[in-house]
Amino acid sequence: MRFRRVGVVGAGVIGSGVAQLFAQSGHDVALIDSSKAALQEARRTIANTLKMARLLDHNTHDVEQVIAHLHASTDLESLGNADFVIENVTEDWEIKRAIHARLHAVVRTDVPIAANTSAIPVTRFGSVGHHPQRVVGMHFMNPVPLMPMVEIIRGVHTSDETIAAARALVTEAGRESIVVADSPGFVTNRVMMLMVNEAMFLVHEGVASVPDIDRLFKTCFGHKMGPLETADLIGLDTVLKSIEVIYGELNDDKYRPCPLLRKLVYAGKHGRKTGKGFYEYEC
Ligand SMILES: NC(=O)c1ccc[n+]([C@@H]2O[C@H](COP(=O)([O-])OP(=O)(O)OC[C@H]3O[C@@H](n4cnc5c(N)ncnc54)[C@H](O)[C@@H]3O)[C@@H](O)[C@H]2O)c1
Repeated sequence: MRFRRVGVVGAGVIGSGVAQLFAQSGHDVALIDSSKAALQEARRTIANTLKMARLLDHNTHDVEQVIAHLHASTDLESLGNADFVIENVTEDWEIKRAIHARLHAVVRTDVPIAANTSAIPVTRFGSVGHHPQRVVGMHFMNPVPLMPMVEIIRGVHTSDETIAAARALVTEAGRESIVVADSPGFVTNRVMMLMVNEAMFLVHEGVASVPDIDRLFKTCFGHKMGPLETADLIGLDTVLKSIEVIYGELNDDKYRPCPLLRKLVYAGKHGRKTGKGFYEYEC
């Protein structure tokens, strides 16, 4: 194993999934978040997900063994011995910029730093530190432990060595990768965010109900989840931030956020993670 110690910064919806993926593939994971509550919740979610998977016979990971590979901390400085770092904090440029600036100071200069963002151009992250060639985009899909593919994004400065390192790390976790050029939303979210936002406009305009829109996509196109279920899974706050980034970067009206999306986010209805969004969930 080339990257024994993986640093995962941000323990929310996606960071906890990234931490689980690498812990269950035998890496030592330093999971960092500024919120102790988020770290506790991540640990609980990971243990529950693993127990549920065992019950359903989806995998044979030993819960205690996986948890033993996880080292939770609020201290970013503990990443000094990491072999690879993946940042997964809130989709907000100012928050991410500050974290990347600190990461450049804390981690060894030969260590790749990945930004896991839904839409922010990866080249921006490279511009934050003195070694932009080691910065790469790694877009993990939700739910991370179940998804076979990672979208890897090459920023303007990203070196071939860093791309090779990111692909090697993904392989170590038993996953595949596809490398794409830098663009707001990359390939997946440039299309997917547009689709979920447009589905919200259909609800907003009274064209069809939430369950009917989702059923149409599932039964007509064979999608596993409808667009509104997908939006709830991602987190409506993250969808709003992502579509705002793509809108701002491309300056194209087709990405203007649906007013209903804004209203739900302002109301604190962020989807699965808060128990309410387009649907209601048991927390
Ligand atoms: N949710 C998805 O489906 C999905 C998919 C792919 C990529 N992403 C991207 O991953 C990133 C995280 O998304 P999420 O859905 O997990 O968000 P989230 O809101 O669930 O979690 C964000 C976490 O970042 C932590 N955080 C915020 N500021 C911090 C700081 N200064 N230091 C340390 N931790 C800090 C928060 O406490 C929180 O636990 C975003 O950039 C998002 O666009 C999300």
